[in-house]
Amino acid sequence: MQVYEHIKQLLTLQGAKHKQGRHTEEADLSIIEDAAVVVDAGSIAWLGKRSELPSQFSHAPRVRATGSVWIPALVECHTHLVFAGDRALDFSKRCGGMTYQQIASSGGGILSTVKHTREASSKQLLERAKRSLHAFAERGVACVEIKSGYGLSLESELKILETIQRLQKESPLELIPTFLPAHAIPPEFKGRTHDYVSEICKTWIPEVSRRGLAVFFDVFLEDGYFNARETRTLCEKALEHGLKIKLHADQFTDQKGAELAVALHAQSCDHLENVSPEGIRALAKSNTVAVLAPGASLFTGTAYPPARALIDAGAQVALTTDFNPGTCPSHSLPLMMTLACTQMQLTLAEALVAATFNAAAALGKTDGYGTIEVGKPVRVWQVEAQTYQEIAYAFGETRGTSLQSPITPN
Ligand code: NIG
Ligand code: FE
Repeated sequence: MQVYEHIKQLLTLQGAKHKQGRHTEEADLSIIEDAAVVVDAGSIAWLGKRSELPSQFSHAPRVRATGSVWIPALVECHTHLVFAGDRALDFSKRCGGMTYQQIASSGGGILSTVKHTREASSKQLLERAKRSLHAFAERGVACVEIKSGYGLSLESELKILETIQRLQKESPLELIPTFLPAHAIPPEFKGRTHDYVSEICKTWIPEVSRRGLAVFFDVFLEDGYFNARETRTLCEKALEHGLKIKLHADQFTDQKGAELAVALHAQSCDHLENVSPEGIRALAKSNTVAVLAPGASLFTGTAYPPARALIDAGAQVALTTDFNPGTCPSHSLPLMMTLACTQMQLTLAEALVAATFNAAAALGKTDGYGTIEVGKPVRVWQVEAQTYQEIAYAFGETRGTSLQSPITPN
């Protein structure tokens, strides 16, 4: 047993939990000033004001947490971190004025990463991915969702999903695998999207599900990628096989993706830069979490999602880096919090809830993450700061230590 004391601010997020992460205000961070936390066998046995520490704990060893703010560990709910190669060339083309879609049709884009990923060995993929996980851990993250999607053949999609499985054996972070075979149309199916969709439904989804290699299924619903009809067919098959749904939707164009995500009872609907007013209303009335990726807007030079409208309508909004080589090679959720505040008009409290409790909700993981509570395992980011406001203020430079009890992945 250990008593951590002199915690400058302890953010339990009880209020945010009570409101299911909607319409949150600063009071919902449920801040305890000058706090103490008692940890016993990896779980929180007591928390409260230091002056109120019960006498039964007064002889336990003390750890001074002076000069720190405790927040729930960050949750990264959308990444594409198993791949090979980089896309610096795409970036330089974009700086020369080309759009994401123009670069994709000129030999860059997702398919260029697919080529490198197919050629890479499992070991190469594993080593690169480990570096990314390390970078996330250093920036306060305890749980990371990872998508396949740079293989696009059954063999190479399995290679990616198996890499995630191996990563889980070595990483202290909890990893949530997502199967994303409909990320782009691979060269061998060019002009034959219908055949590709049939193949995924007939063979790939049953195989991935049978082998227990994924929790979620995702589709890139976008002009030039997969349309709403194909997306529905794919997701219905995935649901039949016990996978839960996430969508990349309404990123570059409004495809009524939010409406479809809600109709499919998706766990989350991600991107939403071009979501329609009807899509916003549908999300607000649903349990589908709206996951926003301001880093992708920053890096592609495109519009930010209408975060204010989503939050004000009552949607549950989460933040992600969307870490991937094409549209956001950043591992910093704290930087996303800064962007959310300065570019999408979130309050600091809303940004904090979005990167913790609501990001956990986007993975169906609020039991284990997103709040600091008695009885829960310790999953805390101990930030070097006097107030929580400094996290987004520090512009991606926030420093801290992760306090985490070992995970028991499902
Ligand atoms: O979330 N939009 C589709 N997928 C990624 C980009 C992947 C890539 O460009 O390699 C995203 O932005
Ligand atoms: Fe993405």
